[in-house]
Amino acid sequence: MTTKDYSKYFQAPSYTDAKKRGKDEIRVHYDFSISDEMSRFGANKRYMIRTYGCQMNEHDTETMKGMLEAMGFTSTEDKREADVILLNTCAIRENAEDKVFGELGHLKHLKMEKPNVVLGVCGCMSQEEGVVQRILTKHQHVDLIFGTHNIHRLPKLLQDAYFDKEMVVEVWSKEGDIVENLPKKREGMKAWVNIMYGCDKFCTYCIVPYTRGKERSRRPEDVIAEVRELARQGYKEVTLLGQNVNAYGKDFEDIEYRFGDLMDDIRKIDIPRIRFTTSHPRDFDDHLIEVLAKGGNLVEHIHLPVQSGNTDVLKKMSRKYSREQYLELVAKIKRAMPDVVLTTDIIVGFPGETEEQFQDTLSLVKEVRYDSAYTFIYSPREGTPAAGMADDIPPEEKSARLIRLNDALNEISREANERLRGQTVEVLVEGVSKNNADMLSGRTRSNKLVHFQGPRELIGTFAKVTVTEPMTWFIKGELAGTDSPAVANL
Ligand code: SAH
Ligand code: SF4
Ligand code: F3S
Repeated sequence: MTTKDYSKYFQAPSYTDAKKRGKDEIRVHYDFSISDEMSRFGANKRYMIRTYGCQMNEHDTETMKGMLEAMGFTSTEDKREADVILLNTCAIRENAEDKVFGELGHLKHLKMEKPNVVLGVCGCMSQEEGVVQRILTKHQHVDLIFGTHNIHRLPKLLQDAYFDKEMVVEVWSKEGDIVENLPKKREGMKAWVNIMYGCDKFCTYCIVPYTRGKERSRRPEDVIAEVRELARQGYKEVTLLGQNVNAYGKDFEDIEYRFGDLMDDIRKIDIPRIRFTTSHPRDFDDHLIEVLAKGGNLVEHIHLPVQSGNTDVLKKMSRKYSREQYLELVAKIKRAMPDVVLTTDIIVGFPGETEEQFQDTLSLVKEVRYDSAYTFIYSPREGTPAAGMADDIPPEEKSARLIRLNDALNEISREANERLRGQTVEVLVEGVSKNNADMLSGRTRSNKLVHFQGPRELIGTFAKVTVTEPMTWFIKGELAGTDSPAVANL
């Protein structure tokens, strides 16, 4: 096999640069456009994007789809039909990366059969030094690697990848400016809206501050204009996105405007539901609680990752709050919002976590009574401080703790759902149930999944559903009413 010449298009990631947090002012660009020539580039060509990871990545995929469709591409779900295949990757845990490398292996065969297919890797894995090296040496059938900071460069990079048969690698380690007005292709009745990019928290286990760069907030007027436009287009729900939304506005030098202020302005927009994710407990201030307690279209659900219930482990994780401070915050939130539904993220088996420390997590979970939680076994990430910490907990012990934790959480979820029996809840009907074509599914304000029987005309509307069978991960109910004029006999 001949070795490719990478020199022409090569800009690989550097962890040293990714760690830096410069004082440079963030500029906002409003002049993105796709030229006439570029808008014909994708004519008669199809694209497929496979997305791994969090909502941030899902939303980046919507932006990439928007750009590709503005270039004339159409979408396909069948990789055999695709002219461009992009893997939008996630680096959060090893198993997320394994899935991508597995898929790259499969795509090698496709690429041998159809050498003209352009295969691209983007997202958080592209920001990792080790990953780019591995692709360069073991996956030379990849045509394009770009990162999370230069998504707006996709049209140009794709063109380069088409015309030059060298691998095009363009990953910026220093975060870019904020680029507004990128086209987006959203589907359904729920929309994601970025309010900020990056993360400065540097929790010791986490790769995100390296893959997403420093915290940069979008200007309030741009966020508000986007939400207003979504309301005008008839979207029923907006989720504001950031790795740590509570740090919103900290980086503004000219205005004093924080997440509480943003929520207070957004709640006045005529859109039925507003959510946000994710909240770091440390920056959750009183003003925000006061605003959230006003309710209305601000839903009573807060995802408040705790990670561990033990103060020493939290310290080693560099979460910058203690068990007591977290519990105090929860108490304050519950006092202000008695109906609040809390959910969380928890890591078990952090390096050196003892049985007693794990039991603190169990007891915290029982005290807070989360309605649900995402739980993970700690996965070492190269380049992060925790990856170098001594760890003598055997993997079987970590798996056993995960099971014990999930058992405790499931019992609490079931009890929480049981309390809804007989109550009537508001459901945004999202579609036909995945497992039963006779049933519809949707979500309550607190994001609980509800299945019930009803006419398909209800999809995209709000229905009143009486809870008849609360389960652990979902609720079954009966239709009690609707706001849909299409279904008049109810
Ligand atoms: N910004 C969000 C989290 C994004 S990552 C926040 O701070 O809440 C989502 C979750 O993945 C984290 O909350 C954490 O529970 C988990 N996670 C992150 N890094 C991990 C690692 N190295 N191993 C296992 N789980 C991890
Ligand atoms: Fe990762 Fe911590 Fe930032 Fe969340 S707050 S993205 S866990 S570093
Ligand atoms: Fe994964 Fe990157 Fe999100 S690492 S969780 S896709 S920010």
